[in-house]
Amino acid sequence: MSETQPDIRKGLVGVIADVSAVSKVMPETNSLTYRGYPVQDLAENCSFEEVAYLLWNGELPNATQLADFQREESGQRALTPALLDVIRSFPRDAHPMDAIRTAVSFMGMEDPETADTSEPATRRKAMRLLAKIPTAIAAAHRASKGLEPISPDPSLPFADNFFHLVFGRVPQPEVVKAFDVSLTLYAEHGFNASTFTARTITSTGADLHGAVVGGIAALKGPLHGGANEAVMHMLSEIGEPGRAVEWLQSRFDHRALVMGFGHRVYKNGDSRVPTMTKYAEKMAEVVGDRRWMEMSRLLAAEMLAKKNIHPNLDFPAGPAYHLMGFDIPLFTPIFVAARITGWAAHVIEQAADNRLIRPLSHYTGAVQRAVPPMSKRT
Ligand code: COA
Repeated sequence: MSETQPDIRKGLVGVIADVSAVSKVMPETNSLTYRGYPVQDLAENCSFEEVAYLLWNGELPNATQLADFQREESGQRALTPALLDVIRSFPRDAHPMDAIRTAVSFMGMEDPETADTSEPATRRKAMRLLAKIPTAIAAAHRASKGLEPISPDPSLPFADNFFHLVFGRVPQPEVVKAFDVSLTLYAEHGFNASTFTARTITSTGADLHGAVVGGIAALKGPLHGGANEAVMHMLSEIGEPGRAVEWLQSRFDHRALVMGFGHRVYKNGDSRVPTMTKYAEKMAEVVGDRRWMEMSRLLAAEMLAKKNIHPNLDFPAGPAYHLMGFDIPLFTPIFVAARITGWAAHVIEQAADNRLIRPLSHYTGAVQRAVPPMSKRT
């Protein structure tokens, strides 16, 4: 590294910014663990609530701990009348990610402990956010269609309640299980862009709601969480399996990105894809519509053959959510409902051993010069 040519890692590629005990991303084996447990085993064998408990406490809950956690979460799902009024006032065509970002910001103004950044207060606020975010997502979605919000049902588990909030009914158990699996797979993923944003905000001493608002803003981007929506738009544009390969070739010809493929860390496959694909296939069977998964299979095979690029989690999650009956603009907000667990775990970890995150830049602008008087400016 010389003075004129510093070692700049554009996009912080390969930079290890801190230690973390929350999750381990292992690109060499295409695997991911949360607190030491393989994510695919958690998805198959545990509920999303158990995974949330694990991320926040470091261990899986026993039956009593899980019951207490579920009671706390399910008892705090309701929104205040003031927040419901704010949600009703959102422009009808507002993007749901902007709606949930604004709703969480409002929750920060309402929360009695916003300014208390101690760990116990942050944990209590995290629980309130976990409980209320689905209610706000569903209320904003329904308001955008001119529908009244549905009150949360505290007797329902987290995943079942989400369907109840959006549709007013809970589908068959296979559908709820597929959704619950997706929440676990989306819950946490190391120092991804939105989590790093949340940690950066936390490092200034700011509160949890601010960190989560920043995380949501980062997650909206199509290079991050927004990709699950982009995947479904792409599949809809292709329309039928017979057009998949030809459509892909036109993307290659234009050197355009193919959404749902590639990953900054995994270069040989995303550990979460096989599990999500299995459940997306189950959804295709339940619904009796194989078109999207067939198209996905052809696209994945062609991307691998021609570009050696593997799909990421958003690729099977997009059609899975569509087959579950969700409208496309809800896909990335669902990611928020899951990732609040990972964000909060990282906020707690960052605050417990904090140092302000403040990197340097290498200046490439104009050389130093004198400020000219107005009469000399062109
Ligand atoms: N479609 C087409 N080409 C892709 C691609 C994709 N989805 N992802 C990567 N590539 C190509 C790049 O163009 C680059 O080619 P080049 O070397 O000829 O320039 C090469 O693969 C290496 O990719 P790179 O841009 O270095 O990857 P990155 O680590 O900077 O970016 C992503 C990672 C995720 C941002 C990128 O793969 C992407 O934009 N994917 C689509 C969006 C998406 O699915 N995001 C969700 C991520 S979980």
